[in-house]
Amino acid sequence: MPNIHIRPPWFLPEAEATPESIYLRRRAFLAAAAGALIFPSIGCAQDFPAGKGPLDKTVKYPTKVVRNGKYKLDRPLTKDVIAASFNNYYEFTINKTAVWPLAQKLTTEPWTVELAGCKKKGKHDLAKLLKALPQEERLYRFRCVETWAMAVPWIGIPLKKFVEWAEPPASAKYMRFETLFRPKEMPGVDFRASFPYYEGLRIDEATNELPLLATGIYGRTMPKQNGAPIRLIVPWKYGFKSCKSIVKISFVEKQPATFWNVAAGNEYGFYANVNPEVAHPRWSQANEWMIPSQMERRKTLMFNGYGEQVAGLYKGMDLKRYF
Ligand code: MTE
Repeated sequence: MPNIHIRPPWFLPEAEATPESIYLRRRAFLAAAAGALIFPSIGCAQDFPAGKGPLDKTVKYPTKVVRNGKYKLDRPLTKDVIAASFNNYYEFTINKTAVWPLAQKLTTEPWTVELAGCKKKGKHDLAKLLKALPQEERLYRFRCVETWAMAVPWIGIPLKKFVEWAEPPASAKYMRFETLFRPKEMPGVDFRASFPYYEGLRIDEATNELPLLATGIYGRTMPKQNGAPIRLIVPWKYGFKSCKSIVKISFVEKQPATFWNVAAGNEYGFYANVNPEVAHPRWSQANEWMIPSQMERRKTLMFNGYGEQVAGLYKGMDLKRYF
C-alpha cells in the first residue's frame, strides 16, 4: 500500500450531513484513536488488591469444556490479567487500560442474538442457544492491527458448527455481525453516530475450521471487557475483525460494509488478513510485540501462522489489493 495518508471516504459527506459539534467531536475521536493505534499504552497493571482486579468478578466456566489439542502455540500464553486489562473496546473508551473498570457496568444477562437470512431466523435466547451447540477450548495467537499480540485460550462454538445449525440458503455468500449499542452502559458511544460496531466475513471464511463464537477465556466466562457474552475470534485476521458483544448475525448475498472500512477505508480493508508484507499506511506490519512488553518482539507470521488452514481461501487473489 502507498505510504500516504488519503482522506478517508467519510471526510466530506459526513461534514455535510452531521451537525458541526458532533462532526468535530467525531473527528477528534478518530484522531485520538489513530494516535492510540500508534502509541498503545504499555502500562498494564498486573497486581490488583483482592476483589478489585479485572478477573475477580468473572465466573469460572460453569460447564466442562474440553481443550482441542490440535491448535498448538509457538509462544507462551499471555498472563490472564494482562489479556483482561489491556483491551480495545471503543464503545467504552479508547484508553486500553481503562476499558475493564468501565465495562463492569455492562448487563450481559439475559442476552438475545437475532438471526436473519437463515432457517433459524428470529431472536434467540443465548443461554438456550449455548445448550444446543458444542463448545471447546482452543489456544490461538491473536494479532491486533496496531502490532501488539497475545496468545490466549478461548472457549467457544466453532462458527462452522453454528452456520450448519443456522441453515442459511445457498445464496448466502457472506455473514454480517452487529454488536451491542447501549449508550446508558457504554460511555464511549453517546455521541458517536457510527456505532454500533459491525463486521463481516465471506461464508467460506466463516465455515473454515478456525473461527469461534467465543464465550470464554482462560477457563472463565468471557470478561465484559473482552466482549461478553459472545464475540467473534478469527485468528488469522487482525483483531478488529473479532467483534465483541454480538447481538445480530445475518446471512447476506453481498459483501457487507464494516465499521473500520467505512471509517477509514484506505487503512482497514474488508479482508484484514495478518500479512507481514502489506504495511499499514502509517506503520510496518513486519513485526509484532507481545503484551505487556514492547521488548518481546517477534516477526509477524503470514496469516498469523494459520496459512495451512486458510491460505487456500485466497488462492489467486492479490492480497495487496484485497488487504
Ligand atoms: N468489538 C467491538 N464491539 N468494539 C471494539 O472497539 N475492538 C476490536 C475487537 N473487537 C472492538 C471490538 C479490536 S481493534 C481488537 S484488537 C480486539 O477487539 C481486542 O480484543 P481484546 O480486548 O479481547 O484483546
